Amino acid sequence: MESEIQKNRFRQEREELKKMERTVNNCPFRTRYHIMPPVGWLNDPNGLCQFRGIYHAYFQYSPLSVHGGGGYWGHCTSTDLLHWEYKEPVLTTDIPEDAGGVYSGSALIENDHMYLFYTGNVKLPGNYDYIDSGRISTQILTESDDGQHMSGKTKLLGAEDYPENITRHVRDPKVWKEEGTYYMVLGARARAWDKEGERSDRGGVLIYMSQDKKNWSLWSELVPDKKFGYMWECPDIFVLSGTRVLSYCPQGLPAGEEKYQNIYQSGYSILPVGITAKIDSVFREWDPEDTFREWDMGFDFYAPQSFETEDGRRILIGWAGVPDTENAHRNLSVENGWQHCLTLPTELVYHSGKIFRKPVSELSNLPWKDVAADKADGKYRKYHWADQAVAVKEDGIAGGERCLLIGQEDNGLTVRVAGNKVELTFLNRDGQPSICGGGRRVRIGRVEDRVEELFVLIDSSIVEVFVNGGETVFTTRIYLDKKDRNLAADGRCRILAI
Ligand code: FRU
Repeated sequence: MESEIQKNRFRQEREELKKMERTVNNCPFRTRYHIMPPVGWLNDPNGLCQFRGIYHAYFQYSPLSVHGGGGYWGHCTSTDLLHWEYKEPVLTTDIPEDAGGVYSGSALIENDHMYLFYTGNVKLPGNYDYIDSGRISTQILTESDDGQHMSGKTKLLGAEDYPENITRHVRDPKVWKEEGTYYMVLGARARAWDKEGERSDRGGVLIYMSQDKKNWSLWSELVPDKKFGYMWECPDIFVLSGTRVLSYCPQGLPAGEEKYQNIYQSGYSILPVGITAKIDSVFREWDPEDTFREWDMGFDFYAPQSFETEDGRRILIGWAGVPDTENAHRNLSVENGWQHCLTLPTELVYHSGKIFRKPVSELSNLPWKDVAADKADGKYRKYHWADQAVAVKEDGIAGGERCLLIGQEDNGLTVRVAGNKVELTFLNRDGQPSICGGGRRVRIGRVEDRVEELFVLIDSSIVEVFVNGGETVFTTRIYLDKKDRNLAADGRCRILAI
């Protein structure tokens, strides 16, 4: 049963959608195969699952403000992970424990029933210290028979249940079942001090266990002794080809020359032990820096979540955006009343200690057509597109040099390949920060050996570059007028459109 508060807030969403529908839908930056907010703002993917054959994707949603602020879980469904149907939101703030936001969380499907776990966030009014006192994070369960109507909000864990050394930042439950036991991993910020006695908090995760999904007790506290960021958000734990993987989003890593280039990072570590061994002692000595690999090397990627399909694939979807960068990021969809999208779903494949992110196979089932013919000089293929999705495909690169230009030379993005290196650069001739990429102009990613193949998908305002079948991936938003949607690619590639 919907509460009165909830009904009222869902009505506000419908009104905003009605008011903005035409502007949003006429925006040239709307995508065809990527999840977007129907109106307003979107951030993290939540509750990803396949339920009775249908894919459900929920997302952090702020229909009433294009600049975020939260308050809703948006919802869409799909039968092929590419065409999404937008539904009404499913969750909003209507109890004291989630008054400040229905934050990120996950879905568990069991016995033909859906269980959603999320964080209710509260920031106390006034001049509070939001790290140690003024924030309340509650882990909450709600349930559904159809994926659309949620019933009940059961409080599972609150401040009194977290370990002493953990600050008020505890969130983003990911729940799974293993050998008859339920596990919940939560992102956390632990209180810590450096050698000089200065406050120097540490990121980590808490793992709780339960036999009934309602009563939870702490299983492991995993805060490495060696600091790796001050907070970890959106953790996820899963098994891929018999290997245990921890996915997490550390905040506060100093940028290296090529790595950790976005404001916050997201990546994974292959864990040294199984979950059923108590792992906190192992993790005390564990150095995440040694094992951490970024999920994506592009300008726009954060807060991914994975789920297992009914046919056994492990799919990962991220937010094609990053928090706290809006001022630097000239996102041109904002003036049309919406902002951000999710990435293409990618299938995770474990290979020699590394995880590859391949575009889901459904993508190749779309009726793509080869479009660009060879240029007379045989050097470049060119193509102008406006409303289509386009893809550039090239194999047999063997570490050679290649260049792809998306857009115009004074307002575009180049993808350059040489040896084992791929470089994305936003172009702007006048030397000013480019209109794309929020002033961050260059991103570099490398593969182990050499670049063999490249697959670039462009869906209106999002570019995803898959190198060597997903060994390295770049996700980047780009805002080109339709007249500027030109492609110039090496003559040996194929250009496909749909
Ligand atoms: C990550 C995040 C999560 C939180 C959510 C709130 O982008 O900060 O930790 O649950 O966004 O929208």
